[in-house]
Amino acid sequence: MAIKSLDDLLAEGVSGRGVLVRSDLNVPLDDDRNITDPGRITASVPTLRALCDAGAKVIVTAHLGRPKGTPDPELSLAPVAAALGEQLGRHVQLAGDIVGSDALARAEGLTDGDVLLLENVRFDPRETSKDDAERQALARQLADLVSGPDGSPGAFVSDGFGVVHRKQASVYDVATLLPRYAGRLVEAEVKVLQQLTSSSERPYAVVLGGSKVSDKLAVIENLATKADSILIGGGMCFTFLASQGVSVGKSLLEEGMIETCRKLLDTYADVIHLPVDIVVADKFAAEATPETVRADEIPDDKMGLDIGPGTVERFTNLLSNAKTVFWNGPMGVFEFPAFAAGTKGVAEAIIAATGKGAFSVVGGGDSAAAVRQLGLPSDGFSHISTGGGASLEYLEGKKLPGIAVLEE
Ligand code: 3PG
Repeated sequence: MAIKSLDDLLAEGVSGRGVLVRSDLNVPLDDDRNITDPGRITASVPTLRALCDAGAKVIVTAHLGRPKGTPDPELSLAPVAAALGEQLGRHVQLAGDIVGSDALARAEGLTDGDVLLLENVRFDPRETSKDDAERQALARQLADLVSGPDGSPGAFVSDGFGVVHRKQASVYDVATLLPRYAGRLVEAEVKVLQQLTSSSERPYAVVLGGSKVSDKLAVIENLATKADSILIGGGMCFTFLASQGVSVGKSLLEEGMIETCRKLLDTYADVIHLPVDIVVADKFAAEATPETVRADEIPDDKMGLDIGPGTVERFTNLLSNAKTVFWNGPMGVFEFPAFAAGTKGVAEAIIAATGKGAFSVVGGGDSAAAVRQLGLPSDGFSHISTGGGASLEYLEGKKLPGIAVLEE
């Protein structure tokens, strides 16, 4: 069945109707709880604005971080409510709970065009429960918040693309209880990923980084037969280097994955490219002194924090004639200026390829944050996805529960 869109809902008329929107407002915060990259808030605005403008009573549910199913003031959505209000240009109320007395009272008091943000939905253990009945019970309470005074059902708009790979109450279960629609962000993201998987023009280059190799093995396996080159940097490259018998010093290493990396390299030797040099330091700190060494000469007492200039040059060459590029994960610790050159260099190479007509997609919160924090032009890429895990799982060929449920 085709997925209904926000435009379908708007055409049905939403004035005075309760609409529950699942957004992904999981933004990075610094130690003082300031938002360091508001990208996901910005991306959630078009759907919310369209609903407010059409006079809906909008209730937004979202998570922040990974609380342990109990309220944690450090992970309150308060800073997000303030930032969302600024971007929407209207007051966003924050309920002190999720489906408790405060949320109920505020939901009842909403007038047309109002926005109410519920507190972090992961403060309720039922959100992420593996027990279907527990999740359904929370979903039922969420759905009730948007029902009309006569018991008529509200509507559910799924717009949190970054969480559609999670089978959670506010993503999946609630969609089984209400008329459901894809928001503008989910629609746009799915369209881009469909384009990437269905008609990738060659050469197709995939750039993978980030810290955890275990998160990326399935996508490497899946893309190795479709892509012409897979360029590997970031913390994950050290497990690949170690699988070649190279000593990686104090660098990140997932020992349990070494054998899998070796098999992947043996099978796809022509496709997978590893760094040839590495920027190392003696500690994980912004003020650590960087030193470039060959990838097979990492000293025992040093850790790799970025790919080296030789690798950037090599990767730039490989990207120069690409017609399709997918990039997920930074090449190094870009938050520390001394170790940001690898990420910046590769991003610039992708921007250059895009300028020559390549279709480029940046997937993942970290890579998207890197683009913005390094001052790179976000319009230098064809699309910057708000979903890290979600875009990877899509490219792995997995069925995403939060999308599948919209089709049913
Ligand atoms: C993300 O940050 O990728 C999304 O918000 C999903 O968060 P999660 O990995 O904690 O489910």
